[in-house]
Amino acid sequence: MSDIEAQQFAPLPHGLDPLFAADRILPMSDVFAQIDALLPDALAELAGVKNPDDLERFRIKYMGSNGLLKSSMKRLGQAPKDQKPALGQRLNAIKDQVHAAFESHKQGLSADVSGDRGYVDVTEPGKPLMLGNRHILMKVADELTELFGRMGFAVAAGPEVEDEFHNFVALNIPESHPARDPNDNFYLEQDSPSRLPLGTQSSAPNISSPSSPSTQYSSLSTSAALLLRTQTSTVQIRVMQTQKPPIRVVIPGRVYRPDTHDQTHLSMFHQLEALVVDQNVTMVDLKSTVLQFIHAYFGPQTRVRFRPSFFPFTEPSAEVDVWFEDRQKWVELGGCGMVHPNVLTACGIDPETHGGWAFGFGIERIAMRKYGIADIRNFVENDIRFLRQF
Ligand code: DAH
Repeated sequence: MSDIEAQQFAPLPHGLDPLFAADRILPMSDVFAQIDALLPDALAELAGVKNPDDLERFRIKYMGSNGLLKSSMKRLGQAPKDQKPALGQRLNAIKDQVHAAFESHKQGLSADVSGDRGYVDVTEPGKPLMLGNRHILMKVADELTELFGRMGFAVAAGPEVEDEFHNFVALNIPESHPARDPNDNFYLEQDSPSRLPLGTQSSAPNISSPSSPSTQYSSLSTSAALLLRTQTSTVQIRVMQTQKPPIRVVIPGRVYRPDTHDQTHLSMFHQLEALVVDQNVTMVDLKSTVLQFIHAYFGPQTRVRFRPSFFPFTEPSAEVDVWFEDRQKWVELGGCGMVHPNVLTACGIDPETHGGWAFGFGIERIAMRKYGIADIRNFVENDIRFLRQF
């Protein structure tokens, strides 16, 4: 059909559908022109919209299911094949712009709640500020270090990427021990992995400030295979290598093990380690401090039990269980014991004159017992509904 023939068709009835009519086909240049007019028309009309009723009328006219945008889209099928993609693209772009303009106009209208009334309604409810809060685990870690602070303990910290010396060797964990199995640890790939020979001591760590209550031990041996630390006991070594007894520290920190996640296990969790080294230290000191802590933190009625156990770096060793009232079950908080003479010796402390005790408890488990949290995975799922409760 020629342009002239096309123009002979009856003009469109004045209505909502200026672009395509079933019974006529416009030259493409006209169609483009009409499409292009849609946007300025819509924007001009929107600018005049001053109240919600007019806004709704605008929405129906342009964006409704029988509106101008939709009907234009529907008629796209009638455009010549080779022009369809270009036409479709233009219509989509226009649709997006009309929608965006509509939304921002709508927001403008609702922000200006007094509208044309010429006054500000001060009784309108305000927008509440969203206040963040500290993660429950960090809160519990703070509560614990604060509690131990009152019992005379300083706070120490060490690196999460550790060498084998601090994670195993100095802790009296022999090469054959299952705890060293590469499958049970996150070893880091290194350009030139050179393993530290057994019994070799790594370079002395730096101490940022030995007298400060929070001491960060950060230097790493450069010659050892590296892994994500599996226990905070590593920092016991760093403290003993750099401080003279009497030592009394707690060490909160993250540890990593390739465990399958379930209700009580995560591959990354937190421990609170404690270390005391002094003269005349006995197991009574260990037991009474742990009992005092548990009764102070969970309440004086809390049931606790010590079970004989084995750790290469303590002798004798025990595990500490706390009764979970809500689960009607004993849950292990962690291990403890008297520091093994080999560990003291590896750190240059004479086991003939000095003794020590230590423990390592899971902070998640402590938090779960304290706040009645049933699933350890809650701590890492970042569900605001959970986090907001604390
Ligand atoms: N490091 C041990 C673990 O992660 C727990 C532990 C046991 C820590 C005995 C200690 C200790 O300080 O004395 O399983």
